[in-house]
Amino acid sequence: MKLIVVITIFVISVTVNDAFRAYNETEVALNDERAMGGYIKNVIADMAQSMKEAGYDPFYIERQEYIYQLPVPVIFKHVILIEQLLSNGISNIVVNSVNYSILASRLSFDIELPLVDMGVGSGSVETTVFGRNFTMNSSGKVAVQRMRFVGQIRFIVNLIPKISVSVRSSDIAFTMDGIESDVKLVVQNEDYSDKMNEFLSTTVPTTFKEYRSEINELLGILSVEYINSYLQAQQNN
Ligand SMILES: *[C@@H]1O[C@H](CO)[C@@H](O)[C@H](O)[C@H]1NC(C)=O
Ligand SMILES: *[C@@H]1O[C@H](CO)[C@@H](O)[C@H](O)[C@H]1NC(C)=O
Ligand SMILES: *[C@@H]1O[C@H](CO)[C@@H](O)[C@H](O)[C@H]1NC(C)=O
Ligand SMILES: *[C@@H]1O[C@H](CO)[C@@H](O)[C@H](O)[C@H]1NC(C)=O
Repeated sequence: MKLIVVITIFVISVTVNDAFRAYNETEVALNDERAMGGYIKNVIADMAQSMKEAGYDPFYIERQEYIYQLPVPVIFKHVILIEQLLSNGISNIVVNSVNYSILASRLSFDIELPLVDMGVGSGSVETTVFGRNFTMNSSGKVAVQRMRFVGQIRFIVNLIPKISVSVRSSDIAFTMDGIESDVKLVVQNEDYSDKMNEFLSTTVPTTFKEYRSEINELLGILSVEYINSYLQAQQNN
């Protein structure tokens, strides 16, 4: 669960910050398959570098407090406190292989994130509703092992009004070796650590496997949109 949130925020932030702006402008010969493969590897390496430079890897928050309350806090007050939040590895993108074929209008790729871990020194939620208090405390570490994306992108080279490239479809297979979870979770003075660890290390991977085809379909749809808007921005410059 946590992982999905972090990745979503990250993707949105990259778009908002326009981190791609930092890309070195390179002319790419569409019919040079070797050069194209090298270019794609460079794009991925640049993306990893801009994640590091933007402070997403490692990502660290020393202390952050969010408070929401009504003018009469005994009716409703919500306090979230996060200390020592740390995440590592999101920019460690390993390109196993990238093959580009102009004849087949196809780009095949095999990339992976060997290890992404996230930890929090202490996190707590304290909510007061009509004078009743609800508290939740958590700490610990979660590590996601080997997220791998293997797939193909089919593209179209448009000649009119000028030469440009857009993506027609994308097939992606996502796999993950496992999640290691060592967290403490206390809700209303009751210890849910074992349940939470079991949920993260067993239920989440099993659910991912169960919904593999739906997740892959979603990745396909999102990647077509994302890459097309990226290409469009590049080509309009
Ligand atoms: C872009 O790449 C060229 C050649 O690889 C290099 O000389 C230049 O410094 C790079 N520019 C930026 C802004 O990274
Ligand atoms: C790319 O081509 C090489 C050599 O033919 C092959 O071993 C590799 O599996 C291919 N990669 C993908 C992602 O198709
Ligand atoms: C749980 O969080 C609350 C609110 O931040 C804090 O007052 C309390 O000491 C914490 N309890 C534990 C066991 O960490
Ligand atoms: C709820 O928490 C507030 C401050 O966090 C405290 O003043 C109040 O006494 C608590 N109420 C109960 C019923 O424990």
